[in-house]
Amino acid sequence: MIEIIKATDDHIKGIIKVCTDAYRATYKDLYTNEYIEKIIKKFYNYDSVLTEVQTSNRNWGGYYVAIEKGHIIGAGAGGILDDGSGELFVLYLAPNRRNEGIGSTLLYAITEQQKALGAKKQYVSVQKGNHKGIPFYEAKGFVFQYEQKSYGNSEGDTYISLRYCRKI
Ligand SMILES: CC(C)(COP(=O)(O)OP(=O)(O)OC[C@H]1O[C@@H](n2cnc3c(N)ncnc32)[C@H](O)[C@@H]1OP(=O)(O)O)[C@@H](O)C(=O)NCCC(=O)NCCS
Repeated sequence: MIEIIKATDDHIKGIIKVCTDAYRATYKDLYTNEYIEKIIKKFYNYDSVLTEVQTSNRNWGGYYVAIEKGHIIGAGAGGILDDGSGELFVLYLAPNRRNEGIGSTLLYAITEQQKALGAKKQYVSVQKGNHKGIPFYEAKGFVFQYEQKSYGNSEGDTYISLRYCRKI
């Protein structure tokens, strides 16, 4: 049985593992190794994830995790933007557990949280060329809006992400 629950401190290491594994598997053909490891170090370190797990407010709704037999096999998080729309900030599954419907159940939990806060629209940014993510969002009714510079870019990085939106 797979459960979707709000993450606690007990889930920090599992969140880091699933996000790190998925990040490497998803972006190995899209980003340089250097960029991948820079982003992992910046976002998926213990202290950052600890803070993110312990924070739950309107702008950051905290992590949801998919757990099977005590193992974390997926993680996701969203929040509400200044204009009242929802945003999906993170959604990753263990690379060998894709296409079983787990991503849909995580997205559902995050979407319900955002609807309860009054969101009528939901945004997500996805890396241009991410064929492990874009078809999922399109299947869920997200529609392409525009291109922008990727969030993790530092000076010299020129990666592009695609902004998608759907009604919720
Ligand atoms: C994106 C991700 C979270 C989706 O979760 P998932 O459990 O694999 O997706 P689901 O099994 O719930 O799929 C739901 C729908 O998307 C479709 N879908 C998912 N991936 C697809 C793909 N690569 N190609 C075509 N359709 C796809 C499914 O057919 C399904 O459609 P349906 O609801 O009409 O039957 C997961 O695949 C993942 O971790 N990908 C790599 C990381 C990533 O890109 N994350 C997003 C970063 S922005």
